Amino acid sequence: MQHFFSGRVGMLASASAVWLIGAASVAVAQSQASGQEQAIAQAAAATAKGQTAGEFFKNVTTSTLKELTPSDFLGAMGVMTAAVGYDCSNCHPGAGTDLMDWVSDKVPQKRTARKMVEMVANINKENFGGAQMVTCWTCHHQSDVPSTSITLDRLYSVPVEERPDVVLPGVNQPPAAVILDQYIQAMGGAEKLATLNSFVASGQSIGFAGLGGNGEFHIFAQAPDRRGMWINFPEHPDRGISAWTYDGKTGWISAPRGFLGEYELTGNDLSGARLDAVVSFPGQIKSAFPKWRVGLDDTVGDRVADVVQGSDPSGLLGTFYFDKETHLLLRYVRQTPSPVGHISVQQDFEDYRDVDGIKFPFKYSFLWLDGRFTATLSEVKVNAPVEETKFAKP
Ligand code: HEC
Ligand code: HEC
Repeated sequence: MQHFFSGRVGMLASASAVWLIGAASVAVAQSQASGQEQAIAQAAAATAKGQTAGEFFKNVTTSTLKELTPSDFLGAMGVMTAAVGYDCSNCHPGAGTDLMDWVSDKVPQKRTARKMVEMVANINKENFGGAQMVTCWTCHHQSDVPSTSITLDRLYSVPVEERPDVVLPGVNQPPAAVILDQYIQAMGGAEKLATLNSFVASGQSIGFAGLGGNGEFHIFAQAPDRRGMWINFPEHPDRGISAWTYDGKTGWISAPRGFLGEYELTGNDLSGARLDAVVSFPGQIKSAFPKWRVGLDDTVGDRVADVVQGSDPSGLLGTFYFDKETHLLLRYVRQTPSPVGHISVQQDFEDYRDVDGIKFPFKYSFLWLDGRFTATLSEVKVNAPVEETKFAKP
């Protein structure tokens, strides 16, 4: 989930991969759930004990991946899968069935991938002083055999719109603090936003390509840093509950239709969840990062946007796209590091409406490596009490 969602061309390409992943996971959700959820729960427990992926898994040997926490290791698997346009079963025999075998090296693509992981680490070490300039995506762009020449049609058609993860410095742009202040003003003003202690947003989720649709959708948020996002299907309890929670200390994801089942966030994942919670309260946005930079103007759909990016020493990046005219937030992308490329989550906002003097987006899209959905809200309740369980383990 790199920045590839931002470009139009990238959008199409990524949509198909997510669809493939999504479709495959629906088909296999039932059969794989038990074994896999168990594996994930074990991974989370191991992480809590401070075990690395190399210690915890049976056959994890690459110099960079073996050092990760088990849950960040699984995030890296998601990045590799998306970059080459695969699903897990292209490298792991039987993935998605009861016969899955994550350990086996039988599939040649898995053996190649292991070499590729070392190759990427070496390219970066030898040529870029260890900075992560080359990733699986750099060459693969969702194809397992990278192309070596430009297709001539493409030379004369719309240029491929892809952006570097770290934004290029803007020219003649206002400072980040000014753009963030314009946003705070547009959302209701600092004084009004300071009165926002909690909110509950409710609506309906619309799945991508018919998947995960017609769920009851809720976001619960409590200042300064608690957030829970839930989708459930009251008429089809068998479809499970999807949830993303963060209680100020620990975080969880439950995605019954995803490959990873339910798991506790550890390592870099956790700082991403915290960031989502903090920026749910627009008045706090400036405190979300120690450092901000302004990028070149960009577009989101047909809107021109000011781009402001925050970063912290752990490598977490938050990129915010503000409408140049209305100053409202159109898109927020967060990226956490992994040795094979950033793990990205994108959120898009539309249809802002006024609720008690504060603006809320009534259309919300969420895209991550394992799927995407859109929700339309019907109601936002401001400063209503929220039960602790909404931020806890689903
Ligand atoms: C492009 C090939 C490829 C894809 C696709 C892929 N993996 Fe992997 N997987 C690997 C490689 C290579 C290793 C071993 C890494 C190492 O040695 O550091 C591995 C190891 C693992 C392990 C550790 C097993 C053990 O005990 O040794 C798990 C679990 C795993 N992958 C899960 C997944 C999941 C879940 C997906 C889908 C989201 C996935 N993988 C997709 C290549 C892949
Ligand atoms: C510098 C460019 C480059 C980078 C970076 C790169 N690859 Fe590759 N990869 C290739 C090329 C070229 C091939 C085709 C090799 C061949 O066909 O012999 C390939 C082949 C593969 C294959 C085998 C496909 C098949 O059908 O046999 C897999 C799987 C793969 N790469 C995974 C990865 C992963 C995972 C990463 C990131 C850790 C990665 N690659 C990074 C260039 C790259």
